[in-house]
Amino acid sequence: MSRNFILTTYLNKYGNTKGNKNEMKLQNVKPTKYDNLYTKLEAINFLVENLDLRNIKAIWECADGKGNISKFLEDKGFLVLKTDKEEDFMKTDIDCDMIITNPPYSLKDKFLKRAFELGRPFAMLLPITTLESAKRNEIFRDKSIQVLIPNKRFDFTGKKNCWFATAWFCWKCNLPEQLNFRRVSSY
Ligand SMILES: C[S@@+](CC[C@H](N)C(=O)[O-])C[C@H]1O[C@@H](n2cnc3c(N)ncnc32)[C@H](O)[C@@H]1O
Repeated sequence: MSRNFILTTYLNKYGNTKGNKNEMKLQNVKPTKYDNLYTKLEAINFLVENLDLRNIKAIWECADGKGNISKFLEDKGFLVLKTDKEEDFMKTDIDCDMIITNPPYSLKDKFLKRAFELGRPFAMLLPITTLESAKRNEIFRDKSIQVLIPNKRFDFTGKKNCWFATAWFCWKCNLPEQLNFRRVSSY
């Protein structure tokens, strides 16, 4: 299925993005060089191994980049709907069973806010420090976010010295606990 066919079939641009009472007060965060770190296969494999995806057919990768996540998922047999900044996640909605992405980290609050607004199950790979901040604490409590925490850092640099830890922040994914500590299998 071509990208154009997928987009004309599923794309539904939203003009109005009204928030709810828990809308985050977003700060103006500048893009950084860490915004374009592409997901390693062991990180996406870790997610797929630990989520129950039996009822998931169509997945939206809304910040596709070089397609690391989408290619992996397509190889596993999922239909993956792929968009990137040209389609702007803040203004786009695509009919799907679930959103899986690794967004630019300077935009993590905007991506989280938008994903909650859309109401679909999602899994986002984010720095583990995303657990911090009074505002996110309130939102995560209210929304019952679930976090899938690996027992090692994913190596984004390829140099085995990644200086930050990440985890999958999941919503409506039916994980057993709010904090799920799991081992990463080699991939
Ligand atoms: C960290 S890269 C991750 C790429 C891919 N998800 C992966 O895991 O390998 C972040 C991607 O988000 C895209 N992006 C930036 N702003 C965006 C926006 N407003 N809407 C959708 N994608 C955006 C960038 O172009 C980049 O490809």
